[in-house]
Amino acid sequence: MPEEKLAHYAAMTETALERYFPQEPGYAERLTEACRYSLLAGGKRLRPALLLEFYRLCGGAPEDALPFACGLEMIHTYSLIHDDLPCMDDDDYRRGRLSNHKVYGEAVATLAGDALLNRAFEIMLAQTAVPADRAMAAAAYIGRCSGIFGMIGGQIEDLSLEGKTASESELLQMISKKTGALLRAACAGGCLLAGASRERRTAAEQYADALGLAFQIRDDLLDVIGDSAALGKATGSDEAKQKSTFVSLYGQEECQRRVDALTQRAVSAAGAFGDDGFLAALARQLARRDH
Ligand code: IPE
Ligand code: IPE
Ligand code: MG
Ligand code: MG
Ligand code: MG
Repeated sequence: MPEEKLAHYAAMTETALERYFPQEPGYAERLTEACRYSLLAGGKRLRPALLLEFYRLCGGAPEDALPFACGLEMIHTYSLIHDDLPCMDDDDYRRGRLSNHKVYGEAVATLAGDALLNRAFEIMLAQTAVPADRAMAAAAYIGRCSGIFGMIGGQIEDLSLEGKTASESELLQMISKKTGALLRAACAGGCLLAGASRERRTAAEQYADALGLAFQIRDDLLDVIGDSAALGKATGSDEAKQKSTFVSLYGQEECQRRVDALTQRAVSAAGAFGDDGFLAALARQLARRDH
């Protein structure tokens, strides 16, 4: 079962996150509190776990990759804080608590996102455990996946498709950026950090791409059929914002069929990579997740 290993990686990540964002009396207290509020609110810690596991499978010691795992989780958390803002998805709950802006206001929430993003690159570039050439390559790759060619590019496509009926290819392109790109950052980023071959990186990207698409389709499905208490965020948000999703295009049954087929693809890619069981089990677990 993947739960134990995921919990182990999550615990490692959380201990380090806590250290990277200390609450210092007298210095930007409200902003630091806002950063910690979202960063330390739980969450599946999927991206750091994948980065640490791919790094390990490529021969590295997971502890050495922690600044990158934490950096990626900071980027992911900032994307969620901004995603929930009234000018974006306008969601009031996240990770089982009120959204950042509902507690701290929009200005502080915006700055908390910015602070998390900048701190992420600071800690990735300041670390010394991994040789500088690999660290630079991984940080540049994570930057590309997070930015206009990746997650942010996908977010703007998501917004521009609101109120429209997107085609399948528009949806695929949007999802591969808004969600797929940070999973690629985790999987292929871990490989780059370990100095793995191009072939291995390509296999890692194939796993990430299949997993990312399955993950977002399941997310869209849970927005319709999920339980908000289990999810830790509201349901019905996509319909309220007239989002284009696979559920609106194909209906629930076809969505789960696609999630299962994509999961099979991810499992095959994991096998080709040299997975020793965790990656395949994780993909299968995520296909049926309720949060
Ligand atoms: C939510 O990501 C945003 C999507 C890409 C669907 P997660 O479902 O990984 O959120 P946390 O980190 O567990 O809160
Ligand atoms: C978000 O997709 C992806 C991000 C880059 C944050 P959603 O907008 O569907 O994620 P949730 O449902 O709010 O977590
Ligand atoms: Mg969104
Ligand atoms: Mg959202
Ligand atoms: Mg969603």
